[in-house]
Amino acid sequence: MTAPWTARVLTLFPEMFPGPLGLSLAGKALERGDWALEAIDIRSFATDKHRTVDDTPFGGGPDMVMRPDVVDAALAQATQDGLAPAIYLTPRGQVLTQGLVKRLSAGPGLVVLCGRYEGLDERVIEARGLLEVSLGDFVLSGGEPAALALIDSCVRLLPGVMGAEETLDEESFEAGLLEYPHYTRPADWCGRQVPEVLMSGHHEKIRAWRRQKAEETTRLRRPDLWAVYQEHKARVGAKN
Ligand code: ADE
Repeated sequence: MTAPWTARVLTLFPEMFPGPLGLSLAGKALERGDWALEAIDIRSFATDKHRTVDDTPFGGGPDMVMRPDVVDAALAQATQDGLAPAIYLTPRGQVLTQGLVKRLSAGPGLVVLCGRYEGLDERVIEARGLLEVSLGDFVLSGGEPAALALIDSCVRLLPGVMGAEETLDEESFEAGLLEYPHYTRPADWCGRQVPEVLMSGHHEKIRAWRRQKAEETTRLRRPDLWAVYQEHKARVGAKN
């Protein structure tokens, strides 16, 4: 059997993994062997008796910096087979998109380096050609929660992990639009009604209503996505 999609996480807190990824759909898929997770303790690559992984910054400053030699030794082991891309999670990176998630989930897996402290010595980023990725314009206290989110977003796209494949096709970002609103029973909740059309049983009308709502929500909330969507529509023509 070929190796499943594998996430190797380099971290100072291996006990944070699998964490939430051990539960729900991702957790079941992990148990089934649809994907694999290895949490590698960066500290185990330290060479001095105090097992030091960080040091003070050249040029001064209050925060510690992760040492390039220690991190490099961890990366050398994790990237041995040379197949999976090595990602460094940092607010300085390119912002994660569903497009990148798709490409990553289609590959053999990921090597994910989680930073702590102020950062990582720049030389190891250059030497290893790390792909720097950010979850967005905010700062976490470390890369671990970002690694959990990144891996989750990839794992749910692996074949067999999500129940209904059509859920993936219809959802947000697949079409370049935000999702339309959802409703379930009761039809009348605290005097709030479910839109008539959804109870009409008229599939064509329902599809058109959902598309219109998705477009309206995207245009109002995310003009950036709306512009890309319109460009795409102009280029390839709307499917419907
Ligand atoms: N580490 C700290 N903040 C982060 C962010 N916004 N995205 C990815 N990794 C991070």
